Amino acid sequence: MLERLRIFPDQASTIAGEVDTLYLFLIGMSTFFVALIFGLVIYFAAKYRRRSVNEVPPPVRTDLRLEIAWTVIPLVLVLISFAWGAQLFVTMGQAPAGAMEIHAVGRQWMWKFQHPSGGREINQLHVPVGIPIKILLASEDVIHSFFVPAFRVKMDVVPGKYTSAWFEATMEGEFHLFCAEYCGTQHSGMIGRVVVMKPVDYQRWLSDQASGEPLAVGGERLFQQRGCATCHRTSDGPTGPALHGLFGRRVQLQSGDSVVADESYIRESVLNPNAKITEGYQPIMPTFQGQLSEEGLHQMIAYIKSLSGPAEGRKAP
Ligand code: CUA
Repeated sequence: MLERLRIFPDQASTIAGEVDTLYLFLIGMSTFFVALIFGLVIYFAAKYRRRSVNEVPPPVRTDLRLEIAWTVIPLVLVLISFAWGAQLFVTMGQAPAGAMEIHAVGRQWMWKFQHPSGGREINQLHVPVGIPIKILLASEDVIHSFFVPAFRVKMDVVPGKYTSAWFEATMEGEFHLFCAEYCGTQHSGMIGRVVVMKPVDYQRWLSDQASGEPLAVGGERLFQQRGCATCHRTSDGPTGPALHGLFGRRVQLQSGDSVVADESYIRESVLNPNAKITEGYQPIMPTFQGQLSEEGLHQMIAYIKSLSGPAEGRKAP
């Protein structure tokens, strides 16, 4: 019975409890003020009603202390809500260092996932419990939204850029995955499940998958096929900068600005190479717009990331 009356889904991630506490605080505060204000409106309407036709009420003097109290108390409450919400927002926006990365692509109307070792799945996401997981999200068509209520995680998936979300599951089991942005006729069918498993079971599951090649390996092949290696060698060449150690580094641009080489920067540099020219280079790189799928881009980025990773994962182009 209680199960049926439950309003909230399971709290199945490290952040879920905090989100719910803030939510209950906001609900509690709103309820209190709604009751207070409506109660006073009704009470005063009765108490100060006009009792005779020619009644003229005496003038009212305001009390400065009252004015200050009802200005300062709401201000403090609003500031608390802001600071609390902002702190949680920042925590939710930054995946812990070393989080396991899973690449996700949303399209009308399915979710496609790829694990670091290459395992792929559709409308299902298997993850280990107790390990922070970062989902890098891309869309092939329109805006979708990656929503796992039990984790209290929701992030828009926007065509033309990357967004990310992270969570650390605290509970084994199966949880709903929804698309939370209206994306066409089958929007309501764009659902799936997240399966949280013990790390050993997850490893076993991974090895049972007819897993393709790891993302970075596919990226390396694309890198060769598309001729990227002609200009981007292991050291800076005359036509293109080296990509080793690029990821996460600050890049000085021709325009005088600088930018941190993250996923979105690499994506833009592949699709629209002239948008940001590295200092000391000419805008001669051709665009790869329309030539790489979102998954291809994910692979390419994973490869370029691997060039900045730990030495054993590094491969010469
Ligand atoms: Cu995808 Cu709604």
